[in-house]
Amino acid sequence: MRILSIVGARPQFIKAFALSSELRKKHVEILVHTGQHYDYEMSRIFFEELSIPEPDYNLGVGSSTHGAQTGRIMERVEEVIVRECPDLVLVYGDTNSTLAGALVAAKLHIKVGHVEAGLRSYDRRMPEEINRVVTDHISDLLFAPTETAMGNMKKEGITKGTYLVGDVMCDALKIAKQKTNRPEIMADTGEKYLVATIHRAENTDDMQRLSRIIRALRDSNRSIILPLHPRTKRKMGSNELIESINGNLKIINPVGYLSMISLMTGAEKILTDSGGVQKEAYILGKPCITMRETTEWIETVNAGWNVLVGSNRGKILNAINDFNPKGDRADIFGDGRACESIGEVICEQMKLFP
Ligand code: UD1
Ligand code: UDP
Repeated sequence: MRILSIVGARPQFIKAFALSSELRKKHVEILVHTGQHYDYEMSRIFFEELSIPEPDYNLGVGSSTHGAQTGRIMERVEEVIVRECPDLVLVYGDTNSTLAGALVAAKLHIKVGHVEAGLRSYDRRMPEEINRVVTDHISDLLFAPTETAMGNMKKEGITKGTYLVGDVMCDALKIAKQKTNRPEIMADTGEKYLVATIHRAENTDDMQRLSRIIRALRDSNRSIILPLHPRTKRKMGSNELIESINGNLKIINPVGYLSMISLMTGAEKILTDSGGVQKEAYILGKPCITMRETTEWIETVNAGWNVLVGSNRGKILNAINDFNPKGDRADIFGDGRACESIGEVICEQMKLFP
C-alpha cells in the first residue's frame, strides 16, 4: 500500500518518528513536510537526532495567517497527492498542516487516517480545536489515543472507523528514554529546577496573559529552564518583556526531543501550555502545571497529576510551591504499542474499503 504521511510542525515530527518505521515494514511511505516549521531547532534537529527518514517533499510553506498558511499547504499538497496517487493519507494531531492535508485528500476521494483523533478542549477559540473537529469529521480511519477521545467522537456521531490504539507519543517516549541526550544546561550542580514551555496562541497573542505568566515564573525565585518557542520569543522581544527577566529564569533555544526528555526527567515540576508536554509529564511522573483554562488531556487533571492555572499569577505561584501529587498513575496513554496497533488496523481495514 502507498501511504502518504503529512507532517509540518514539531510534535508531528516526533509522532512520525514513532510511526514511520512501523509503516515502512509493510508499506511504501511517502513523507511530506509542509514546511510549517522551518527553523533548525523546530524541524531539522528532529530528523537528524531521531533518524526520521528524509521527507520526499518539503513544501516550504513557512509562516503566515491561518487562511494563507492553510491555503498554501492545500495547494501544494494537492499537487503531490495527485502525482503520488496514495491509497491512504495520514495526518497527525491538530495543526494547520493536519487540517489542510485532510481536506485535500478527502476532496480527492483518498482515504484519510487521523492519528490522535477525538481530542477536544471544547474551546473553539483555539485554532487547534477547529482543526481537530473538521479533520475528525472527514477522516475514514480515526486513531484515538484515549477512552475520552473515543467518547468525544461518539458524542459527535463519529462511530465508524474509530479505533482506540493508545498514544503514539507514549511509543516515542518509550524509545527516547533509552537514548536520552543530556543538554549542557543541565550542569551537574545538583540544583533543583523546573522546566517550562509556552507557545499557545491564547497566551502569546495576549500580551497581558503572557506578561503575567512570565512575571510569575520570574518572581517564583525557583530555577526554571524555558526552552523558548520562536513565536513566544518574537512576542516577548517586541514588548521588551525579555529584558525584564532575571537570573532564575533561564531562557534557552528550543531543544531536540532527546534533550527535552532529559530535561523533563531531571525536573521537579513542569509548567506548560503544550499538549504533548502535558502527556509526557504524566508518563514521566512529573507534576504538571498547565497555564491554560482548558485542556484536551483532561485525564491527567482527573488523575490528579495536572492542574489548570490559566495565566493567574497567584495560582501559578501556589502550584509551583505546593502542587505535589502522589500515588500511582494508570496507563491512560496505552502501553507504548500504539504504532503497532495503527499498523494492524491499516492492514485490516484498508482491504474492506470499496
Ligand atoms: C503550531 C500549531 C500548534 C502546535 C505548535 C507546535 C497551528 C494552528 N498551530 O503552532 O497547534 O502546538 O505548532 O509547536 O497549526 N516560527 C518561527 N520558526 C519556525 C516556526 C514558527 O519563527 O520554525 C514563528 C513564526 O513567527 C510564526 C510563529 O512562530 O509566525 C507561529 O508558527 P505557526 O506554525 O503558525 O504556529 P505555532 O505557534 O508554531
Ligand atoms: N519539545 C522539544 N523541544 C522543546 C520543546 C518541546 O522537543 O524545546 C517536544 C516535547 O517534548 C513534545 C513536543 O515537542 O514531545 C510538543 O510539541 P509542542 O509543545 O511544540 O506542541 P503541542 O504538543 O502543544 O502541539
